[in-house]
Amino acid sequence: MQRKLIRIISLILMVVSFIAYIAKAPAFPIASENLLPWSTWFFIFALANIILWQSVVKLLSFSLMVIWFYAFAASVVPETSTATFDPNAIDRTPDTFIEIGEIIFNGKGKCNTCHTLDPSAPKSRCPDLTDIGTHAATRQPGMTAKEYLIESTYEPHKFLVPGYSNIMPPVWKPPISLSEIEIETVIAFLQSQGGEVDITEFEPPVDIGSAEAVVEELPPLLTGDVERGKKVFVEGAKCIACHAVAGVEQPTGQTLDEGVEVVAAPELTDIAGLNSLRYIEESVLLPNAQIVSGYGSVTVKTGGATIQGTLVTQDNEQITVRVKDAAGNEEERTILLSELDPEPIEELTDLTGKGYFWIQVTLADTGATISGDLVEEDDENITLQIGGEPQTISKSNVKVQATLIDFDENVIVGELIEETEDEVTLIVDGEEQIIDTFDIDEGPNYSRAFGKRLVVTSPMPNNFPLLLSVSDMSDLLAYLASLTGATDATAAEEAEATAE
Ligand code: HEC
Ligand code: HEC
Repeated sequence: MQRKLIRIISLILMVVSFIAYIAKAPAFPIASENLLPWSTWFFIFALANIILWQSVVKLLSFSLMVIWFYAFAASVVPETSTATFDPNAIDRTPDTFIEIGEIIFNGKGKCNTCHTLDPSAPKSRCPDLTDIGTHAATRQPGMTAKEYLIESTYEPHKFLVPGYSNIMPPVWKPPISLSEIEIETVIAFLQSQGGEVDITEFEPPVDIGSAEAVVEELPPLLTGDVERGKKVFVEGAKCIACHAVAGVEQPTGQTLDEGVEVVAAPELTDIAGLNSLRYIEESVLLPNAQIVSGYGSVTVKTGGATIQGTLVTQDNEQITVRVKDAAGNEEERTILLSELDPEPIEELTDLTGKGYFWIQVTLADTGATISGDLVEEDDENITLQIGGEPQTISKSNVKVQATLIDFDENVIVGELIEETEDEVTLIVDGEEQIIDTFDIDEGPNYSRAFGKRLVVTSPMPNNFPLLLSVSDMSDLLAYLASLTGATDATAAEEAEATAE
């Protein structure tokens, strides 16, 4: 009787643990993957049933155990096969693509060192990719999700996610160097993040084979000495005062030379593992060319007050700036872009380069004042987004405003009609007014428009090319190129993995 009860309990437990295992229920008794996962419980009960029962149940337990064995083997195999993964031998099925794409995302592609897949992760230098499978279709008008993902991986510079800079290396180039099929699988994995997976083959926008040949023809950058370069990094240029590198001691309380403040800067332990040498070289020579998100300095005016700080995040509507108050305490302030004060613009040239994103002009032909977000600009025209509609305005059809102050401290603002050596003719409030240049204390200052802008600059000094000798610079670059994040242990692991 008692034996029968034990048999029945054992049968129930086996079925329950098998279902829990298949349904991927959290581990028991403690929710940790390593502590008795359901597969282990199932294994124990199945064994018990095989011993305790005769006949049908014995057979059932045995068959379940066989199923378990295959499932278990399949779950173990991909982990060990990451290193020996042969791109030519993969099935063109969505499941295989997603599975391999995920391995590459977290491994060879190094995507996970920059990107997160967790919306609650702290905002970092790169966009979070949660639900990118659906978001991808909304990034650029007329582009499908897949087209966007192809462009984002092959040619990431073509479209920059608002608020982020051009620091993502094209994934087919060194140091990431994914092959075409590997990129296809990563794209399938990204599509599987909230979107539809479509694995039909496509024509890559870049011919990797021939483009690589071009890269190889360039002269080698690295003729410097790594050890001497490290010395430049730590002592000569004091890069270490701002940048941490694992294993290199960071002097505390170090001050840089006059006028240069020690600021938070990206860790450089694996800079060469994530970026091309060209990018690294450019970062040192021209720090303002690409500014790592979250580290740029910004100065904006709003409500007449000037706010200066570190630009933490930015999107189409607002910015978050970290500022220090007089007592040295840091706080974050969110400012709507629409609330920035417009400034007069004298020359309507290179507006985007000067950081303008919103423009107001008065048209010469109709006298209408119009304003909107700046969409496009060339030598002759500017295009503004006005009430959801793009409108192109000729730069020659924009009124010039003059501002001047006379000796009675009157501020006179008007539309410029003519300026000669002796007098300035303006239309002020609809009336023509001629002002003698002898009566002008300040001005006239001309503006062709008003604009709101955001100018982000790098807090990193930009005079290293002048401070360092050519040989110091080449040693420094050689040292930076050696920072691939690979410690001796991981290097050995990788070597072993390739040997397998
Ligand atoms: C060095 C850091 C870095 C690495 C490594 C990197 N990315 Fe990026 N990625 C960025 C940054 C920064 C952006 C935003 C700027 C832009 O659009 O290029 C971005 C943008 C993207 C976008 C567009 C996101 C969006 O919201 O529209 C996709 C997709 C993407 N990356 C995929 C990848 C994949 C796949 C890999 C790995 C093969 C990868 N990235 C590796 C930095 C990185
Ligand atoms: C005053 C502090 C400061 C000093 C000194 C400094 N940097 Fe920087 N550096 C920064 C900041 C802040 C950034 C991020 C903003 C940007 O992209 O310019 C940065 C960015 C970089 C980057 C790009 C990092 C990335 O993750 O993409 C590299 C490479 C770099 N610095 C190298 C150097 C080297 C080499 C030196 C010494 C010759 C140096 N820096 C000195 C502050 C500093």
